[in-house]
Amino acid sequence: MQNQNENQNLGPYWMPFTANRSFKASPRMVVSAQGHYYTAEDGSKILDAFSGLWTTGAGHCHPKIVEAVQKQAAKLDYSAAFQLGHPQAFELAERVCELAPEGINHCFFTNSGSEAVDTALKIALGYHRLRGEGHRNRLIGRERGYHGVNFGGISVGGISPNRKMFSTSLLPNVDHLPHTFNLEKQAFSKGQPEWGGHLAAELERLVALHDGSNLAAVIVEPVAGSTGILVPPVGYLKALREICDKHGILLIFDEVITAFGRIGGAFSSDRFGVVPDIITCAKGLTNGFVPMGAVLVKDEIYQQFMQGPENAIELFHGYTYSGHPLACAAGLAAMDIYRDEGVFEQARSNEKIFEDALHSFKGVENVIDIRNFGLMGAIELAPSDQPGARGFAVHTECFRQGLFVRNGMDILQFSPFFDGDEDYYSQIFDTVRKIINTV
Ligand SMILES: Cc1ncc(COP(=O)(O)O)c(C=O)c1O
Repeated sequence: MQNQNENQNLGPYWMPFTANRSFKASPRMVVSAQGHYYTAEDGSKILDAFSGLWTTGAGHCHPKIVEAVQKQAAKLDYSAAFQLGHPQAFELAERVCELAPEGINHCFFTNSGSEAVDTALKIALGYHRLRGEGHRNRLIGRERGYHGVNFGGISVGGISPNRKMFSTSLLPNVDHLPHTFNLEKQAFSKGQPEWGGHLAAELERLVALHDGSNLAAVIVEPVAGSTGILVPPVGYLKALREICDKHGILLIFDEVITAFGRIGGAFSSDRFGVVPDIITCAKGLTNGFVPMGAVLVKDEIYQQFMQGPENAIELFHGYTYSGHPLACAAGLAAMDIYRDEGVFEQARSNEKIFEDALHSFKGVENVIDIRNFGLMGAIELAPSDQPGARGFAVHTECFRQGLFVRNGMDILQFSPFFDGDEDYYSQIFDTVRKIINTV
Protein backbone atom coordinates (compact mmCIF):
# COMPACT_ATOMS: atom_id res chain seq x y z
CA MET A 1 0.00 0.00 0.00
CA GLN A 2 2.27 2.71 -1.31
CA ASN A 3 1.69 6.39 -1.83
CA GLN A 4 0.80 6.07 -5.52
CA ASN A 5 1.46 9.67 -6.30
CA GLU A 6 5.19 9.69 -5.82
CA ASN A 7 5.49 13.21 -7.18
CA GLN A 8 3.36 14.66 -4.41
CA ASN A 9 5.29 16.90 -2.02
CA LEU A 10 4.45 15.77 1.51
CA GLY A 11 6.77 18.30 3.16
CA PRO A 12 4.62 21.42 3.66
CA TYR A 13 1.75 19.81 5.53
CA TRP A 14 2.50 19.60 9.26
CA MET A 15 0.21 16.80 10.36
CA PRO A 16 -1.59 16.94 13.72
CA PHE A 17 -0.91 14.33 16.44
CA THR A 18 1.12 12.30 13.94
CA ALA A 19 4.74 11.18 13.75
CA ASN A 20 5.33 13.35 10.67
CA ARG A 21 8.71 11.96 9.62
CA SER A 22 7.64 8.37 9.99
CA PHE A 23 4.37 9.03 8.14
CA LYS A 24 6.04 10.85 5.29
CA ALA A 25 8.59 8.07 4.92
CA SER A 26 5.78 5.53 4.68
CA PRO A 27 2.45 7.32 4.08
CA ARG A 28 -0.91 5.80 4.91
CA MET A 29 -3.04 7.77 2.51
CA VAL A 30 -6.76 7.44 1.79
CA VAL A 31 -8.57 9.14 -1.06
CA SER A 32 -12.23 8.34 -0.54
CA ALA A 33 -14.65 6.69 1.87
CA GLN A 34 -18.04 5.04 1.83
CA GLY A 35 -19.94 3.26 4.58
CA HIS A 36 -17.46 1.20 6.63
CA TYR A 37 -14.53 1.58 4.25
CA TYR A 38 -11.84 3.97 3.19
CA THR A 39 -10.24 3.55 -0.21
CA ALA A 40 -6.46 3.84 -0.36
CA GLU A 41 -4.57 5.47 -3.22
CA ASP A 42 -3.95 2.13 -4.90
CA GLY A 43 -7.68 1.40 -4.90
CA SER A 44 -7.58 -1.15 -2.06
CA LYS A 45 -10.24 -1.00 0.65
CA ILE A 46 -9.40 -0.22 4.28
CA LEU A 47 -11.98 -1.34 6.82
CA ASP A 48 -12.44 1.41 9.40
CA ALA A 49 -12.54 0.12 12.98
CA PHE A 50 -12.54 3.64 14.38
CA SER A 51 -15.41 5.24 12.43
CA GLY A 52 -13.29 8.23 11.52
CA LEU A 53 -11.87 9.59 14.75
CA TRP A 54 -14.85 8.68 16.95
CA THR A 55 -16.76 10.91 14.57
CA THR A 56 -18.62 9.01 11.91
CA GLY A 57 -20.72 6.38 13.69
CA ALA A 58 -23.48 6.45 11.07
CA GLY A 59 -21.04 5.64 8.26
CA HIS A 60 -18.80 7.55 5.86
CA CYS A 61 -20.37 9.75 3.18
CA HIS A 62 -23.90 9.03 4.36
CA PRO A 63 -26.01 9.90 1.28
CA LYS A 64 -28.48 12.01 3.26
CA ILE A 65 -25.72 14.21 4.64
CA VAL A 66 -24.02 14.43 1.25
CA GLU A 67 -27.27 15.64 -0.26
CA ALA A 68 -28.04 18.12 2.51
CA VAL A 69 -24.58 19.69 2.38
CA GLN A 70 -24.59 19.89 -1.41
CA LYS A 71 -27.96 21.64 -1.36
CA GLN A 72 -26.92 24.03 1.37
CA ALA A 73 -23.66 24.89 -0.41
CA ALA A 74 -25.59 26.06 -3.43
CA LYS A 75 -28.04 28.10 -1.34
CA LEU A 76 -26.20 29.87 1.48
CA ASP A 77 -22.44 29.48 1.65
CA TYR A 78 -21.88 31.67 4.67
CA SER A 79 -23.66 34.25 6.72
CA ALA A 80 -22.00 36.51 9.28
CA ALA A 81 -22.05 34.63 12.54
CA PHE A 82 -22.17 37.80 14.64
CA GLN A 83 -25.32 39.91 14.50
CA LEU A 84 -26.91 37.95 11.64
CA GLY A 85 -28.68 34.63 11.84
CA HIS A 86 -29.80 31.92 9.47
CA PRO A 87 -32.67 29.51 10.16
CA GLN A 88 -30.63 26.28 10.16
CA ALA A 89 -28.53 27.38 13.13
CA PHE A 90 -31.65 27.97 15.23
CA GLU A 91 -33.20 24.73 14.03
CA LEU A 92 -30.11 22.68 14.82
CA ALA A 93 -29.82 24.23 18.29
CA GLU A 94 -33.43 23.25 18.92
CA ARG A 95 -32.95 19.69 17.65
CA VAL A 96 -29.84 19.17 19.78
CA CYS A 97 -31.52 20.58 22.89
CA GLU A 98 -34.49 18.27 22.32
CA LEU A 99 -32.12 15.34 22.71
CA ALA A 100 -30.36 16.82 25.74
CA PRO A 101 -31.35 15.94 29.30
CA GLU A 102 -34.24 17.92 30.74
CA GLY A 103 -33.32 21.46 31.75
CA ILE A 104 -30.42 21.74 29.31
CA ASN A 105 -31.94 23.93 26.65
CA HIS A 106 -29.46 26.39 25.16
CA CYS A 107 -26.73 25.69 22.65
CA PHE A 108 -23.64 27.71 21.69
CA PHE A 109 -21.91 26.58 18.49
CA THR A 110 -18.16 26.23 18.05
CA ASN A 111 -16.09 24.53 15.36
CA SER A 112 -14.43 21.78 17.33
CA GLY A 113 -14.36 19.94 20.61
CA SER A 114 -11.39 21.99 21.82
CA GLU A 115 -13.27 25.21 21.22
CA ALA A 116 -16.34 23.78 22.92
CA VAL A 117 -14.29 22.99 26.02
CA ASP A 118 -12.67 26.42 26.25
CA THR A 119 -16.07 28.02 25.64
CA ALA A 120 -17.62 25.92 28.42
CA LEU A 121 -14.89 26.93 30.88
CA LYS A 122 -15.41 30.60 30.03
CA ILE A 123 -19.17 30.26 30.42
CA ALA A 124 -18.69 28.64 33.83
CA LEU A 125 -16.40 31.43 35.03
CA GLY A 126 -18.65 34.12 33.56
CA TYR A 127 -21.73 32.61 35.17
CA HIS A 128 -20.24 32.74 38.64
CA ARG A 129 -18.97 36.26 38.13
CA LEU A 130 -22.39 37.47 37.01
CA ARG A 131 -23.89 35.92 40.13
CA GLY A 132 -21.50 37.99 42.21
CA GLU A 133 -19.25 35.03 42.94
CA GLY A 134 -16.23 35.96 40.84
CA HIS A 135 -14.03 34.39 43.51
CA ARG A 136 -15.23 31.01 42.26
CA ASN A 137 -12.45 30.79 39.73
CA ARG A 138 -10.82 27.42 40.35
CA LEU A 139 -11.35 24.72 37.73
CA ILE A 140 -11.03 21.02 38.45
CA GLY A 141 -10.07 18.53 35.76
CA ARG A 142 -8.87 14.97 36.08
CA GLU A 143 -5.66 13.07 35.47
CA ARG A 144 -5.69 11.34 32.09
CA GLY A 145 -8.55 13.58 30.96
CA TYR A 146 -8.51 14.82 27.37
CA HIS A 147 -10.28 18.08 26.68
CA GLY A 148 -8.73 19.10 23.41
CA VAL A 149 -5.65 21.16 22.78
CA ASN A 150 -6.45 24.79 23.49
CA PHE A 151 -5.03 26.42 26.60
CA GLY A 152 -8.10 25.87 28.76
CA GLY A 153 -8.42 22.28 27.59
CA ILE A 154 -4.81 21.31 28.23
CA SER A 155 -4.88 23.05 31.60
CA VAL A 156 -7.80 20.99 32.88
CA GLY A 157 -6.68 17.98 30.84
CA GLY A 158 -4.45 15.40 32.39
CA ILE A 159 -2.37 13.89 29.61
CA SER A 160 1.24 14.69 30.29
CA PRO A 161 2.71 14.92 26.75
CA ASN A 162 -0.04 17.40 25.80
CA ARG A 163 0.94 19.65 28.71
CA LYS A 164 4.68 19.19 29.06
CA MET A 165 5.82 21.68 26.42
CA PHE A 166 3.47 24.37 27.72
CA SER A 167 3.72 23.71 31.41
CA THR A 168 4.74 27.27 32.29
CA SER A 169 1.82 28.77 30.37
CA LEU A 170 -1.14 26.77 31.58
CA LEU A 171 -4.14 28.40 33.26
CA PRO A 172 -3.62 29.18 36.94
CA ASN A 173 -6.13 27.95 39.50
CA VAL A 174 -6.54 24.43 38.23
CA ASP A 175 -6.47 21.18 40.17
CA HIS A 176 -6.93 17.61 39.07
CA LEU A 177 -8.86 14.69 40.48
CA PRO A 178 -7.10 11.34 40.30
CA HIS A 179 -8.06 9.20 37.33
CA THR A 180 -10.21 6.18 38.05
CA PHE A 181 -8.17 3.44 36.40
CA ASN A 182 -6.47 0.70 38.38
CA LEU A 183 -5.14 -2.28 36.47
CA GLU A 184 -4.88 -4.48 39.53
CA LYS A 185 -8.46 -3.89 40.64
CA GLN A 186 -10.22 -3.48 37.31
CA ALA A 187 -8.44 -5.57 34.66
CA PHE A 188 -10.76 -7.14 32.09
CA SER A 189 -13.88 -5.44 33.48
CA LYS A 190 -16.82 -5.54 31.13
CA GLY A 191 -18.64 -2.22 31.24
CA GLN A 192 -18.45 -0.24 34.46
CA PRO A 193 -15.85 -1.48 36.96
CA GLU A 194 -17.10 -2.24 40.45
CA TRP A 195 -13.98 -0.75 42.03
CA GLY A 196 -13.28 2.97 42.10
CA GLY A 197 -16.54 4.77 42.89
CA HIS A 198 -14.98 6.01 46.12
CA LEU A 199 -12.48 8.12 44.13
CA ALA A 200 -15.16 10.78 43.62
CA ALA A 201 -14.61 11.67 47.27
CA GLU A 202 -11.25 13.14 46.24
CA LEU A 203 -13.29 16.15 45.18
CA GLU A 204 -14.18 16.69 48.84
CA ARG A 205 -10.45 16.92 49.57
CA LEU A 206 -10.10 19.75 47.05
CA VAL A 207 -13.17 21.39 48.58
CA ALA A 208 -11.52 21.14 51.98
CA LEU A 209 -8.25 22.55 50.65
CA HIS A 210 -9.62 25.55 48.74
CA ASP A 211 -13.06 25.88 50.29
CA GLY A 212 -15.95 24.88 48.02
CA SER A 213 -16.94 28.54 47.63
CA ASN A 214 -13.84 29.06 45.47
CA LEU A 215 -14.48 26.22 43.03
CA ALA A 216 -16.11 27.14 39.71
CA ALA A 217 -16.48 23.87 37.85
CA VAL A 218 -15.45 20.26 37.56
CA ILE A 219 -14.94 18.90 34.06
CA VAL A 220 -14.73 15.20 33.23
CA GLU A 221 -15.38 12.94 30.28
CA PRO A 222 -18.16 10.57 31.38
CA VAL A 223 -16.16 7.81 29.68
CA ALA A 224 -12.59 8.94 29.01
CA GLY A 225 -11.78 8.11 25.40
CA SER A 226 -8.45 9.38 24.13
CA THR A 227 -6.52 8.11 27.12
CA GLY A 228 -7.62 4.58 26.34
CA ILE A 229 -11.26 4.06 27.38
CA LEU A 230 -11.48 4.62 31.12
CA VAL A 231 -14.99 3.65 32.12
CA PRO A 232 -16.50 5.40 35.17
CA PRO A 233 -16.70 3.03 38.13
CA VAL A 234 -20.16 2.24 39.45
CA GLY A 235 -21.49 5.21 41.45
CA TYR A 236 -18.63 7.56 40.53
CA LEU A 237 -20.47 10.11 38.37
CA LYS A 238 -23.45 10.25 40.71
CA ALA A 239 -21.15 10.94 43.64
CA LEU A 240 -19.40 13.74 41.71
CA ARG A 241 -22.81 15.26 40.98
CA GLU A 242 -23.76 15.17 44.65
CA ILE A 243 -20.55 16.83 45.81
CA CYS A 244 -20.88 19.55 43.15
CA ASP A 245 -24.47 20.22 44.24
CA LYS A 246 -23.48 20.40 47.86
CA HIS A 247 -20.89 23.12 47.17
CA GLY A 248 -22.49 25.05 44.29
CA ILE A 249 -19.87 23.82 41.77
CA LEU A 250 -20.87 23.43 38.12
CA LEU A 251 -20.43 19.98 36.64
CA ILE A 252 -19.31 19.87 33.00
CA PHE A 253 -19.46 16.63 31.04
CA ASP A 254 -17.16 16.66 28.06
CA GLU A 255 -19.17 14.50 25.67
CA VAL A 256 -17.19 15.21 22.52
CA ILE A 257 -16.91 11.44 22.08
CA THR A 258 -19.84 10.08 24.07
CA ALA A 259 -22.65 12.23 22.63
CA PHE A 260 -24.80 11.13 19.70
CA GLY A 261 -24.83 7.37 19.91
CA ARG A 262 -21.31 6.28 20.86
CA ILE A 263 -22.58 4.91 24.17
CA GLY A 264 -26.05 3.97 22.97
CA GLY A 265 -27.95 7.17 23.71
CA ALA A 266 -27.98 10.82 22.72
CA PHE A 267 -25.98 11.86 25.79
CA SER A 268 -24.33 10.01 28.66
CA SER A 269 -27.19 10.82 31.03
CA ASP A 270 -29.22 8.28 29.03
CA ARG A 271 -26.85 5.62 30.34
CA PHE A 272 -25.64 6.88 33.70
CA GLY A 273 -28.69 8.86 34.84
CA VAL A 274 -26.50 11.78 35.91
CA VAL A 275 -27.27 15.21 34.49
CA PRO A 276 -24.46 17.79 34.35
CA ASP A 277 -24.91 21.58 34.17
CA ILE A 278 -22.97 21.98 30.93
CA ILE A 279 -22.26 19.53 28.10
CA THR A 280 -19.63 19.90 25.41
CA CYS A 281 -20.03 17.93 22.21
CA ALA A 282 -18.66 17.83 18.63
CA LYS A 283 -17.75 14.85 16.40
CA GLY A 284 -21.13 13.05 16.08
CA LEU A 285 -22.92 16.39 15.94
CA THR A 286 -22.41 16.30 12.17
CA ASN A 287 -21.37 12.64 11.97
CA GLY A 288 -17.88 14.08 11.40
CA PHE A 289 -18.97 15.60 8.10
CA VAL A 290 -18.23 19.29 8.73
CA PRO A 291 -16.24 20.60 11.71
CA MET A 292 -18.62 21.67 14.45
CA GLY A 293 -18.81 21.64 18.23
CA ALA A 294 -21.37 22.87 20.73
CA VAL A 295 -21.78 23.81 24.36
CA LEU A 296 -25.14 23.02 25.90
CA VAL A 297 -26.15 24.73 29.10
CA LYS A 298 -28.93 24.69 31.64
CA ASP A 299 -31.54 27.42 31.39
CA GLU A 300 -30.39 28.98 34.63
CA ILE A 301 -26.89 29.52 33.23
CA TYR A 302 -28.17 31.09 30.01
CA GLN A 303 -30.60 33.32 31.91
CA GLN A 304 -27.83 34.58 34.15
CA PHE A 305 -26.20 36.10 31.08
CA MET A 306 -29.47 37.64 29.82
CA GLN A 307 -29.72 40.32 32.47
CA GLY A 308 -28.17 43.55 31.13
CA PRO A 309 -29.53 46.07 28.63
CA GLU A 310 -31.31 44.31 25.79
CA ASN A 311 -29.17 45.74 23.01
CA ALA A 312 -25.86 44.85 24.68
CA ILE A 313 -23.85 41.76 23.76
CA GLU A 314 -24.16 39.35 26.67
CA LEU A 315 -21.11 37.17 26.08
CA PHE A 316 -18.01 38.55 24.39
CA HIS A 317 -17.13 35.27 22.80
CA GLY A 318 -17.77 33.51 19.50
CA TYR A 319 -16.17 32.26 16.31
CA THR A 320 -16.43 33.49 12.72
CA TYR A 321 -17.69 30.04 11.82
CA SER A 322 -20.02 29.44 14.78
CA GLY A 323 -23.15 27.85 13.32
CA HIS A 324 -21.70 27.74 9.79
CA PRO A 325 -24.48 26.95 7.27
CA LEU A 326 -22.73 23.84 5.93
CA ALA A 327 -22.10 22.50 9.41
CA CYS A 328 -25.74 23.15 10.33
CA ALA A 329 -26.95 21.37 7.19
CA ALA A 330 -24.77 18.37 8.04
CA GLY A 331 -25.91 18.49 11.67
CA LEU A 332 -29.60 18.61 10.76
CA ALA A 333 -29.20 15.70 8.35
CA ALA A 334 -27.32 13.76 11.07
CA MET A 335 -30.14 14.46 13.56
CA ASP A 336 -32.67 13.16 10.99
CA ILE A 337 -30.62 10.00 10.47
CA TYR A 338 -30.25 9.43 14.21
CA ARG A 339 -34.03 9.78 14.64
CA ASP A 340 -35.34 8.12 11.49
CA GLU A 341 -32.91 5.21 11.35
CA GLY A 342 -33.01 4.40 15.07
CA VAL A 343 -29.25 4.76 15.17
CA PHE A 344 -28.77 5.08 18.94
CA GLU A 345 -30.89 2.00 19.59
CA GLN A 346 -28.95 0.12 16.95
CA ALA A 347 -25.67 1.12 18.59
CA ARG A 348 -26.98 -0.12 21.90
CA SER A 349 -28.15 -3.43 20.53
CA ASN A 350 -24.74 -4.10 18.95
CA GLU A 351 -22.80 -3.54 22.17
CA LYS A 352 -22.85 -7.18 23.18
CA ILE A 353 -21.33 -8.54 19.96
CA PHE A 354 -18.63 -5.89 20.25
CA GLU A 355 -17.95 -6.70 23.88
CA ASP A 356 -17.72 -10.44 23.20
CA ALA A 357 -15.38 -9.94 20.24
CA LEU A 358 -13.16 -7.61 22.23
CA HIS A 359 -12.95 -9.80 25.31
CA SER A 360 -12.09 -12.86 23.22
CA PHE A 361 -8.53 -11.44 23.37
CA LYS A 362 -8.28 -12.24 27.07
CA GLY A 363 -5.37 -14.63 27.51
CA VAL A 364 -3.66 -13.63 24.25
CA GLU A 365 0.06 -13.01 24.79
CA ASN A 366 0.91 -9.41 25.73
CA VAL A 367 -2.73 -8.42 26.29
CA ILE A 368 -2.79 -6.95 29.81
CA ASP A 369 -6.29 -5.44 29.84
CA ILE A 370 -9.49 -5.11 27.86
CA ARG A 371 -12.14 -2.54 28.68
CA ASN A 372 -15.30 -1.30 27.03
CA PHE A 373 -18.47 0.69 27.38
CA GLY A 374 -21.05 1.27 24.68
CA LEU A 375 -19.20 1.17 21.38
CA MET A 376 -15.91 2.29 22.90
CA GLY A 377 -13.30 -0.38 23.48
CA ALA A 378 -9.61 -0.85 24.24
CA ILE A 379 -7.11 -3.68 24.19
CA GLU A 380 -4.06 -2.71 26.22
CA LEU A 381 -0.77 -4.36 25.33
CA ALA A 382 2.25 -4.78 27.54
CA PRO A 383 4.81 -2.19 26.44
CA SER A 384 8.04 -3.38 24.85
CA ASP A 385 11.39 -1.68 25.62
CA GLN A 386 10.13 1.38 23.79
CA PRO A 387 6.67 2.28 25.16
CA GLY A 388 4.18 2.81 22.35
CA ALA A 389 6.19 0.88 19.76
CA ARG A 390 4.10 -2.27 19.99
CA GLY A 391 0.81 -0.39 19.60
CA PHE A 392 2.16 1.60 16.67
CA ALA A 393 3.42 -1.57 14.99
CA VAL A 394 -0.06 -3.12 15.25
CA HIS A 395 -1.58 0.05 13.79
CA THR A 396 0.78 0.17 10.80
CA GLU A 397 0.62 -3.55 10.07
CA CYS A 398 -3.19 -3.49 10.31
CA PHE A 399 -3.27 -0.67 7.76
CA ARG A 400 -0.98 -2.66 5.47
CA GLN A 401 -3.47 -5.51 5.72
CA GLY A 402 -6.49 -3.31 5.04
CA LEU A 403 -7.70 -2.30 8.51
CA PHE A 404 -7.63 1.04 10.34
CA VAL A 405 -7.11 0.57 14.08
CA ARG A 406 -6.01 3.49 16.20
CA ASN A 407 -3.32 3.14 18.83
CA GLY A 408 -2.70 5.49 21.73
CA MET A 409 0.73 4.31 22.87
CA ASP A 410 0.25 0.57 23.51
CA ILE A 411 -3.51 0.76 23.79
CA LEU A 412 -5.45 -0.34 20.71
CA GLN A 413 -8.64 1.67 20.53
CA PHE A 414 -11.87 0.69 18.83
CA SER A 415 -14.77 2.95 17.94
CA PRO A 416 -16.87 0.85 15.57
CA PHE A 417 -19.75 1.95 13.39
CA PHE A 418 -23.16 1.89 15.06
CA ASP A 419 -24.53 -0.71 12.63
CA GLY A 420 -21.52 -3.05 12.86
CA ASP A 421 -22.67 -6.69 12.76
CA GLU A 422 -20.90 -9.99 13.46
CA ASP A 423 -19.33 -9.99 10.04
CA TYR A 424 -17.86 -6.50 10.57
CA TYR A 425 -16.41 -7.52 13.92
CA SER A 426 -15.01 -10.80 12.57
CA GLN A 427 -13.21 -8.91 9.84
CA ILE A 428 -11.72 -6.47 12.35
CA PHE A 429 -10.72 -8.91 15.03
CA ASP A 430 -9.51 -11.72 12.72
CA THR A 431 -7.00 -9.27 11.31
CA VAL A 432 -5.99 -7.94 14.73
CA ARG A 433 -5.58 -11.52 16.02
CA LYS A 434 -3.30 -12.42 13.12
CA ILE A 435 -1.13 -9.38 13.72
CA ILE A 436 -1.08 -8.88 17.45
CA ASN A 437 1.54 -11.52 18.16
CA THR A 438 3.76 -10.87 15.22
CA VAL A 439 4.81 -7.41 16.36
C1 LIG B 1 -13.42 14.40 25.23
C2 LIG B 1 -12.81 15.28 24.18
N1 LIG B 1 -12.83 16.59 24.33
C3 LIG B 1 -12.33 17.42 23.40
C4 LIG B 1 -11.78 16.92 22.25
C5 LIG B 1 -11.19 17.86 21.23
O1 LIG B 1 -11.96 17.88 20.08
P1 LIG B 1 -11.34 18.49 18.73
O2 LIG B 1 -10.25 17.57 18.29
O3 LIG B 1 -12.53 18.53 17.81
O4 LIG B 1 -10.84 19.85 19.06
C6 LIG B 1 -11.76 15.54 22.04
C7 LIG B 1 -11.18 14.98 20.81
O5 LIG B 1 -11.03 13.80 20.65
C8 LIG B 1 -12.27 14.69 23.03
O6 LIG B 1 -12.25 13.37 22.90
